[in-house]
Amino acid sequence: MSHLLHIDSSPRGTDSLTRQIGARYVAAWRRQNPGGTVAYRDVTEDVPDFVSADWVTGVFAPAEHHTPRTKAAVDASAALITEVEDADVLVLGVPMYNFSVPATFKAWIDQICMAGRTFAYDENGPRGLLAGKKAVIVRASGSDFTNPAFAAMDFHAPYLRGVLGFIGITDVEFISVNGPAPEQVESGLIEADRAIAASLKAL
Ligand SMILES: Cc1cc2nc3c(=O)[nH]c(=O)nc-3n(C[C@H](O)[C@H](O)[C@H](O)COP(=O)(O)O)c2cc1C
Repeated sequence: MSHLLHIDSSPRGTDSLTRQIGARYVAAWRRQNPGGTVAYRDVTEDVPDFVSADWVTGVFAPAEHHTPRTKAAVDASAALITEVEDADVLVLGVPMYNFSVPATFKAWIDQICMAGRTFAYDENGPRGLLAGKKAVIVRASGSDFTNPAFAAMDFHAPYLRGVLGFIGITDVEFISVNGPAPEQVESGLIEADRAIAASLKAL
């Protein structure tokens, strides 16, 4: 039985393109996987902690040196990591904000990148520990980043590919809506439906 983790990070409610497309992806996935299960997290409603002194101390301290605060910081992080570990497929709704990802989503990334748990270093360098998963990034931007003039400012897709790869998630696919004018939103959603169907066919 397959398990999907769905995350939203747009604060725009029902107007959000990433929320609409992510929901369509998950609905289609459910139809294809009637026995599958879905977990959902909204990082705008339930904002992950920022990395704190307690977190940094706690992650690198042996258990016997924990204080209640360092333990709480690491436990909160570990709970988010468990959600990712449990998933076969991740559907991550991530708008472009200032050429990168929203701060709430970055906070989530900072919580799930934990030495010894999601990555490790050995004699060959860094090794991601979360193998065998697929991530689908549902991305929306105001500008059209298929236009080469904008490409150099795209720190969203390369960052997400890089950091997910760092923790072992190397199968990363993007479903992108690039800067639709209001009257083009409906056709953008129809195009996204086509991309969803193609993605699920390959899954
Ligand atoms: C705070 C903020 C920053 C944004 N920064 C960018 C940007 O750097 N580049 C861009 O193309 N669009 C940018 N946009 C536009 C959003 O990416 C676009 O509106 C997208 O549809 C947002 O996703 P959503 O519809 O899921 O909320 C920004 C929007 C906001 C609100």
